[in-house]
Amino acid sequence: MAETTFLLNGETVTVTGEPPTRTLLDWLRERRGLTGTKEGCNEGDCGACTVIVLDGAGAQRRAAAVNACITFLPQLHGRAVRTVEGIAAPDGRLHPVQQALIDHHGSQCGFCTPGIVASLVAAGLRRDRAFDDVLAGNLCRCTGYAPIVRAAEAVDPAFVPDWIDDVPPEVAPAAFAPETAEALAAWYLANPDATLVAGATDVGLWVTKALRDLPKVAFLNRCADLRRVEEGAEGLRIGAGVTIEELRALMAPRQPSFAELLRRFGSAQVRASATIGGNIANGSPIGDGPPALIALGATLHLRRGEARRTIPLEAFFLDYGRQDRQPGEFVEAVTVPAAAGELRCYKLSKRFDQDISAVCGCFLIRVEDGVVTGARIAFGGMAGIPKRAARVEAALLGRPWTLATVEAALPAFAEDFTPISDMRASAGYRMEAARGMLLRAFHESRGTPVSVLEVAP
Ligand SMILES: Cc1cc2nc3c(=O)[nH]c(=O)nc-3n(C[C@H](O)[C@H](O)[C@H](O)COP(=O)(O)OP(=O)(O)OC[C@H]3O[C@@H](n4cnc5c(N)ncnc54)[C@H](O)[C@@H]3O)c2cc1C
Ligand code: FES
Ligand code: FES
Repeated sequence: MAETTFLLNGETVTVTGEPPTRTLLDWLRERRGLTGTKEGCNEGDCGACTVIVLDGAGAQRRAAAVNACITFLPQLHGRAVRTVEGIAAPDGRLHPVQQALIDHHGSQCGFCTPGIVASLVAAGLRRDRAFDDVLAGNLCRCTGYAPIVRAAEAVDPAFVPDWIDDVPPEVAPAAFAPETAEALAAWYLANPDATLVAGATDVGLWVTKALRDLPKVAFLNRCADLRRVEEGAEGLRIGAGVTIEELRALMAPRQPSFAELLRRFGSAQVRASATIGGNIANGSPIGDGPPALIALGATLHLRRGEARRTIPLEAFFLDYGRQDRQPGEFVEAVTVPAAAGELRCYKLSKRFDQDISAVCGCFLIRVEDGVVTGARIAFGGMAGIPKRAARVEAALLGRPWTLATVEAALPAFAEDFTPISDMRASAGYRMEAARGMLLRAFHESRGTPVSVLEVAP
């Protein structure tokens, strides 16, 4: 691996001689002896390995909690990392988060505690006090969350640790981390067998769980062009490298239901690393981004060398595990059309937080003078790809937006989908859930709170 340079607990380090897929967690524990950062699941679920990653400086500084177990060292080039060993003041005074966890009995066996400290300190740097969300990716199996949240709430919201003032180092561009889409396009065209790594929240598991070797990789997180967001006449063009957390912030004022869906995407740690480009390019039938974006009428911008093309997002997903992408071609951006209407999104999973969807249904229904004049409905978890419910849409279009119309459209789900049974849900349950989501979208569009609906036996 070429050199990777970053700030570790305030000290500039340069790493050489490691494979490009060495995880930050393994390196911290095995090479640096920083064993405060724990390994629980090694797949981004438990948060025991949480560290703080800082980018930018001054008003531009961003602080994120990140899972070190699925972060590769080269992703840190030009960034700053704080582990639990680098959180107390240099004179030994504990950070108020650490002191509050002691005072409020927020730790028992202590295995989860370094990760919880890192999550809460990162949240403090961001002024984020939505502690249920902040801690959704930190599993504690002994203390219970009440004392931990009490500790979090006891910390003065205005507190700023003047000793965590990391300014990430200036670094030279690295061949493994293209800084422009131009450079990436040229490199990938010449190396079409390489693996692109964006947030590594999927690729990380190929290494830690599937034990795959990835000899040739390029890291996209330094590619400024892929992180760009532009609003124009065609809508909002969102770079492939925009993280899910950034997308959530973009959607909050525009499509609140989509933003709420994204609040349930993984955890704060996953959302801080995962990108929308990775969520689309992985072709997963149960990703949460694609159904919402397809319902919104999004288009996908693909690039291979100097050749660019734009396709409707749904056309990208050809079959299970097969996408319309040529060797050397990558996702550059996705455009969400302006004023597409109000999207309604529903995610059904076994747990509220940090769980992959069993079914994800997204509905964009336009009604004019009581009649359905537009219907875009897309599902995840109902087929081998994220897929539109074309027959259901046809059964609604041109008809009055009434319960009778909706109920008459329900049988069309069986024409659109043949879902599978797996560990997340049975085929029958998926089908019932999808129909229920359409009914819910209807009732909510009428302002009927779903909690008062009569449920048929
Ligand atoms: C604990 C956990 C919870 C999760 N929860 C959810 C969830 O609730 N909902 C959900 O949808 N997903 C979830 N995921 C899956 C994952 O976070 C998402 O799929 C994520 O969006 C992937 O993005 P990434 O940037 O991390 O992709 P990476 O892992 O970096 O890459 C994924 C794939 O996309 C390719 N790729 C990445 N960027 C590009 C590009 N610009 N052009 C071409 N190819 C590219 C890579 O080569 C790879 O094949 C979860 C994952 C974990 C570990
Ligand atoms: S070890 Fe469980 S999230 Fe990293
Ligand atoms: S204190 Fe034991 S797992 Fe949290």
